[in-house]
Amino acid sequence: MLASASVVSIAACSENSLAPYQPEVSNVADNFALQATGVANVTATQSYTWANSGTRATINHSPTTQSGTTRLVIKDASGTTVYSKALSPSLNEPTVPVGVTGNWTLRLTLTNEDAFATHLAQTEEHVARLEQIFTEIEMSPKGKHCKGMKGLVAEGADLLKEHADPDVLDTGLISSAQHVEHYEMAGYGTSRPYAQLLGFPKQVELLQKALDEEQATDLLLTEIARNRLREVPRQMPDRSAAGVELR
Ligand SMILES: [Fe+2]
Repeated sequence: MLASASVVSIAACSENSLAPYQPEVSNVADNFALQATGVANVTATQSYTWANSGTRATINHSPTTQSGTTRLVIKDASGTTVYSKALSPSLNEPTVPVGVTGNWTLRLTLTNEDAFATHLAQTEEHVARLEQIFTEIEMSPKGKHCKGMKGLVAEGADLLKEHADPDVLDTGLISSAQHVEHYEMAGYGTSRPYAQLLGFPKQVELLQKALDEEQATDLLLTEIARNRLREVPRQMPDRSAAGVELR
């Protein structure tokens, strides 16, 4: 049997780099290799046709991306998806999908959609903004510890310990994050009209800005989760959910 191989190596340099997406590709029969270095702040999809005279591919990859995600989708000569994964360091065992001999297609998608990192920076701004509001109204921002938020964070931390398909785990973590966003939105949604009633128009503006950002993050997370979930049915053994349209 011919040994077929597909090797994908992704490496990212500094997070602020604007380096272009310039993969080095060696695409020959039965041996496809791709290396992309200096990739950061890039959202791009590249497709390749790979002549596979065997019936399988051995995939070795070493993704070291610092932000965003890298997804590899492989279809065999019949157009069947034989591999679809978000590459991560935890997927370091060689994978051997089996399919029909002929021209296989490999699609690699890099997505700079690190919503968690982006929103962390926003949240730090929100904290500073709240401290500003309390200073302006001459009150202390210190109060009771938020038991609800502590519980939501603990739930998310528990989820991280689960061993699950990366797409399924991602959507679970996104759901945890959305629980937090909705909790925050409830807080801002209540405090904003209070500030209005109490005659603090400048503070109303600041609270509204934070509320808008929380809502935007929630919508972005929903979109990312939908994209992840669309990949899941293709990996199910009976593919019974393959025709389901997600809303
Ligand atoms: Fe938030």
